[in-house]
Amino acid sequence: CGIVGYVGPQGSDVTDILLESLSKLEYRGYDSAGIAVLTANGTLELHRRAGKIANLAAHITTRLEAQKGGLGIGHTRWATHGRPSDDNAHPHPDCTGVLTVVHNGIVENYAELRQELELLGHTFRSETDTEVLSHLIEQTYFGPAKRDLTEAVRQALQRVIGSYAIAVVCREQPDILVGARCNGPLIVGLGENEQFLASDIPAILKHTRKILILEDGEVVTLRSNGVSLQKLDGRVVERDHITIEWDAEAAEKGGYPHFVLKEINEQPDALRRAMLGRIRDGQLHLPELEKLRKEGLFDRVQRIIIVACGTSYHAGLLAKYVIEQWARIPVEAITASEFRYCNPIVGPETLCIAVTQSGETADTLVGIRQAREQGAPVIAVTNIVASAITRLSDAVLYLQAGPEIGVVATKTFVTSVVVLYLLGLYLGEQRKRIRSEQMSAFLAALEHLPDQVQHILDQAAGPDDVIAPLARRMASVSNMMFIGRGVGYPTALEGALKLKEISYIHAEGFPAGELKHGSIALLDPDTPLLGIATSSHIYEKVITNIQEVRARDARAIVVATEGDERVKQFADDVLYVPATLEAFSPLLAIIPLQLFSYHVAVARGCNVDQPRNLAKSVTVE
Ligand code: G6P
Repeated sequence: CGIVGYVGPQGSDVTDILLESLSKLEYRGYDSAGIAVLTANGTLELHRRAGKIANLAAHITTRLEAQKGGLGIGHTRWATHGRPSDDNAHPHPDCTGVLTVVHNGIVENYAELRQELELLGHTFRSETDTEVLSHLIEQTYFGPAKRDLTEAVRQALQRVIGSYAIAVVCREQPDILVGARCNGPLIVGLGENEQFLASDIPAILKHTRKILILEDGEVVTLRSNGVSLQKLDGRVVERDHITIEWDAEAAEKGGYPHFVLKEINEQPDALRRAMLGRIRDGQLHLPELEKLRKEGLFDRVQRIIIVACGTSYHAGLLAKYVIEQWARIPVEAITASEFRYCNPIVGPETLCIAVTQSGETADTLVGIRQAREQGAPVIAVTNIVASAITRLSDAVLYLQAGPEIGVVATKTFVTSVVVLYLLGLYLGEQRKRIRSEQMSAFLAALEHLPDQVQHILDQAAGPDDVIAPLARRMASVSNMMFIGRGVGYPTALEGALKLKEISYIHAEGFPAGELKHGSIALLDPDTPLLGIATSSHIYEKVITNIQEVRARDARAIVVATEGDERVKQFADDVLYVPATLEAFSPLLAIIPLQLFSYHVAVARGCNVDQPRNLAKSVTVE
């Protein structure tokens, strides 16, 4: 979900401001949306609609009276409690209509609070946990808070168990907007005579670059001329704003038809940024890890667990291969939702690495919190500065990939892999497993990658492109299989996930050698196979596995290294990538797979940037 809020002079175009900010947050979920605007004549105008923000905007233009005001809040929803519908869309008013709330997160004790509030005479209109917040704040507002909205929010939230970021407006307090957070992202944008509230920075970047980042358990009161912060217990908090350097343009499509294509094409730059300052004069520098190094962590660590979800998990699987090889430390990569409930064996000698591009994925946060409680040191790998994971970690390695708007991860995948690889090399160096000439060779190969990715992209954009035509030919298949061995296996998993996510074609990734132990039964002439057969110490084995498949009349598309002519006799189509060290081959092999998925999805008429049922960051368990 995403929330926004605005307070400014009376007569502002608050409806437009809210709708525009919301559209920048659609990647957080988009099954319904709503806004509430306090108009000049003191009415709280509420508009809610199932579907996308465009739906809501179309509905509002038919009601012009809602256009202006000085105060408003908005919400884009990704359902957790209650199905997507007009009624369940936010904002949620209370009984008397005096105030209304937008909320991102989950109120865990909502059933108990609802029962209590119903006994006090509150009538509920929706199935959402959020409505409990509206009634609870209303109850406090007219009760102990004596009609002071900030006070009502502060006191009410002391009763709430769960995760939330909220924004509240009240008809009786037309000059203030109140926000609060606990395990949900929320930032304040400081303007001239107007202030903004949002789940994420792109939503308000058009209006201001001065950002105040809220921390857990804080309540903020925004007035058009300023902002005040306090803790849930009432203690006043002072904090300086930060200034955001990247511009709103960076978060726009920049001439491409879709954000996903733009972001695929930004990968050379993103890779360069991920390595920026970290590879200098043939040496590896990770100053972020200095403190942990001084504490002796890298000498004493016995085991590493990588906790992540989705694409980040695939980056983690790749890291397992290289860290074990380079540092000879046992590594396990585990999906966060499983880690949390498997009673994991972790302690001070187990280094936990959280990989989460958004830094807000609830499964990952909960898992890492548990690992910390058991004494494990934590390193976070994330793209979002000051995101929730950074507060749970002993050190943070930022991806530095720039904002990623497309729901599916592309540039955050390759940068996660590179940052994890740098960490692997660092560990290898610390454990004295990598000689300096080996290190130089690794770093040189890494530095060469952005140009090699650019080479693949240039070919794909040129007249000799083979990827888009192939994708169009494959657009009507129902199933596809992806296979690889070694580092080719996580690459196959990620290739299959990309295709599933944006084209809705059923795709599975398998270890190539495992196919014959069962899944090969699925193959038929209508199920194409995509094999990753770039140069490696197990190249011949992969080729054998591809031949097994071709013997079943399945079509074979093979990703291979430039110069490998022999592979053509085993493949119906070949997608070539430049040569690199085996460990780094996934960073090149994934590029044609991303482009393939993209073109298949476009050919099928899918919504590439916002696939059905998905959200960019899933802030619920
Ligand atoms: C969601 C997204 C995936 C992403 C996963 C993990 O499910 O749709 O694309 O890989 O979350 O996200 P994270 O932000 O933790 O990397």
